[in-house]
Amino acid sequence: MTGTDWAGWQQSWDRQQEWYMPDREERFRVMLDMVEALVGPKPRVLDLACGTGSITSRLLRRFPDATSVGVDLDPALLAIAEGSFAGDERVTFVTADLKDPAWAASLPYDTYDAVLTATALHWLHSGPLEALYGQLAGLVREGGVLMNADHMIDEGTPRINAAERAQRHARMDREKAAGVLDWADWWALAAADPVLAAPTARRFEIYGEHADGDMPSAGWHAQTLRAAGFGEARPVWASPSDTLLLAVK
Ligand SMILES: C[S@@+](CC[C@H](N)C(=O)[O-])C[C@H]1O[C@@H](n2cnc3c(N)ncnc32)[C@H](O)[C@@H]1O
Repeated sequence: MTGTDWAGWQQSWDRQQEWYMPDREERFRVMLDMVEALVGPKPRVLDLACGTGSITSRLLRRFPDATSVGVDLDPALLAIAEGSFAGDERVTFVTADLKDPAWAASLPYDTYDAVLTATALHWLHSGPLEALYGQLAGLVREGGVLMNADHMIDEGTPRINAAERAQRHARMDREKAAGVLDWADWWALAAADPVLAAPTARRFEIYGEHADGDMPSAGWHAQTLRAAGFGEARPVWASPSDTLLLAVK
C-alpha cells in the first residue's frame, strides 16, 4: 500500500463529516477535556466504531502517552486507519461487529479508562444499543468513562427539531452547491481508488449505503447507561443537532 496518501484520505473524510457536523472538532475537544478531567492524560482508550481513527488521532496529538484500540467493521475505513497509524505501537485496530454478542472477545485488553465514540451508535437500533451499553459497562474500569457523541433526538420538541433540521439542511444545500463532497460522493472516490476499491466493495456488501438504526434522546442514553451500571451520566456538550453524553462508572 506504499504510495497511498493516507493523510489526504483522512482530510477528505474530515471535510465530508464536517459537512454534516460543523462543530465536529469542538465536540472532539470537549470529549478530550473530559477524558483529561476524569481519567488523566495517559488513558487506555477504546475508540468504538472508530472509522478512520478520527478520535485516536486527536487523542494521541493531545496525549502522546495515551494508547488506543480502534474497533470497526468497515474494511475500507479500517484500511485508511491502519495505513495512517502504521508502525505506531500505541494503536491497535480490531475488526468486529458491535451487534455480535461476542465482539469484545477480539479486544486485546479486558478494561479501559475510556470508551469514546462519535457519530456511530445511531447505526444501531435501541435494543442492540442497550445490550452494547451493558457490555461496555463491563469494559470500563471503576472511575473510568464512556462518552458517546451522536445525534440524540428529543421527540418532545417537534417544532424545535423541525426548525433545526430545516436550517441545517439549507446550509448543507448551499455548501453542496459550492462543491462539498457528501457521503455518496466520498464513497464513489474510495471505490475508484486502486487500493481502496476492494475493501469499499466489501463494505457495501456488509452495510449497503448505511445501516439502519435509532436516535433516542439524551435522556434515554443517560438512563440506559445508569441502568447498565454507570454511576452518573449526563450531557457535557450539545449543539442544536448533537449531544456529547458522558457516563462515569
Ligand atoms: C459515520 S462513521 C464515524 C466514524 C468515526 N467515529 C468518526 O467520527 O469519524 C460511523 C462508523 O460506525 C461504524 N459502525 C457502524 N455500525 C457498526 C457495527 N455494528 N460494528 C462496528 N462498527 C460499526 C461504521 O463502520 C463507521 O465506521
